[in-house]
Amino acid sequence: MKTCCLPKEIIELLFSPSHTEAMDWLLKNIQTLKTALSQVQAQVPPNAYSRKVLFQDERGEILLMQWSANTFCSPHDHAKAAGFVLFLEGEFIERDYEFRQTLTLRGQRRVLSPSIFPFERNRIHDMACQQKGLSLHIYTPAISGMKVYDPAERRTLEVSDSSGAWVPKDPKEIHRIEYWP
Ligand SMILES: [Fe+2]
Repeated sequence: MKTCCLPKEIIELLFSPSHTEAMDWLLKNIQTLKTALSQVQAQVPPNAYSRKVLFQDERGEILLMQWSANTFCSPHDHAKAAGFVLFLEGEFIERDYEFRQTLTLRGQRRVLSPSIFPFERNRIHDMACQQKGLSLHIYTPAISGMKVYDPAERRTLEVSDSSGAWVPKDPKEIHRIEYWP
């Protein structure tokens, strides 16, 4: 189990069966949350975002992501995880995809902070923040075996659990490659 900076009662709430209650609480307590998170910020994003695992146990994981300006992450799924994303700072673009032998864009939307949305399993998306941004991600279960889609090379990569949504520079972080027809 990994834990950091968030009070136990907030973690319990975030993993409670009622996502609605957790999401309501988050939106009403943005400032409290930002204060609690301020001690773990200020990482320089090496890619579209930096990812910091704040908490992880058998129920799932809580990640803080700090975003570079105007850099899309790679399209990706979330393995077997569902959950929700809280946008704390910044204005985001989210694009939604479908994969059937190739990757097809289905739509996109603009997301202003603060806001929150749940996402279901099997969703493929990418995101970018128009300025520097901050988002909190709650996944149940923890993401393991995430697929990253690489349209330039027409391939799907299964990446290591410590990797984010980008094509890893270190080949050891790529566990499997599947080329598209
Ligand atoms: Fe995602």
